[in-house]
Amino acid sequence: MSESARKIPRHVAIIMDGNGRWARRRGLPRFAGHKSGLESVRAVVRCCLKEGVEVLTLFAFSSENWRRPAEEVGLLMNLFMTALDYEVAKLHKNGVRLRIIGERSAFAPELVARIEASERLTANNGALTLVIAANYGGRWDITRAARVLAERVAAGTLAAADINEAMLRAELSIADLPEPDLFIRTGGEQRISNFLLWQLAYTEMHFTPLLWPEFRDEAFNGALESYGQRQRRFGRTGEQVEQEEKKGG
Ligand code: IPE
Ligand code: IPE
Ligand code: MG
Repeated sequence: MSESARKIPRHVAIIMDGNGRWARRRGLPRFAGHKSGLESVRAVVRCCLKEGVEVLTLFAFSSENWRRPAEEVGLLMNLFMTALDYEVAKLHKNGVRLRIIGERSAFAPELVARIEASERLTANNGALTLVIAANYGGRWDITRAARVLAERVAAGTLAAADINEAMLRAELSIADLPEPDLFIRTGGEQRISNFLLWQLAYTEMHFTPLLWPEFRDEAFNGALESYGQRQRRFGRTGEQVEQEEKKGG
């Protein structure tokens, strides 16, 4: 899109944090922050479509967020449901494919039905894959994958000694998608909070003090800018990477 050969991440993964604080600072109930955060989701989706990011993964609700007051959990579930109702048609029109990852059995049946319908409707879209992590935990994901392999060992179709990284990876939630290139966490906290633990092994990290409702086009473009300036070495030396880049381009 831009004349300069800007390095664009294929996959951006975001912990959308700081909604509650944003609302409290304005003397509003925490939920007002979650609602305003939805506008940031729209902005970031638009930016990804514009810049050609292939996958956007958003952490919407962690497996630990059930610990919040029941009222907030209920409001978040309702917001998730209405967002699915109102946004999916527009996402579909823009060529967005929706994927929801996380443990669904804890959700109300109406919510599960909406999740399935939205995934079905958008399954063949190719402009952007939008992954929503809801009741998701990185430990849950890895544990689940380990269980699948253990079942194969128990059934005698797999030898424990043959288990390798690729096999475990293949059983994770987004195994068919590229691993995140850029991780963003808003809200000032510098932690992973049980997000994509396996998949973030070599992801570039970007932490910002901006609260999620404040994180719009300019902030997202700033994060892309910062990503473009990084050298990803994956264990190699800087000289090796430079040589390969010369050969490649
Ligand atoms: C992130 O914002 C949204 C969810 C976890 C659902 P928070 O609600 O965690 O906002 P803070 O961190 O309390 O400000
Ligand atoms: C992480 O935010 C989860 C989501 C954004 C959905 P939290 O606000 O729950 O994280 P902690 O508890 O501060 O680590
Ligand atoms: Mg928080």
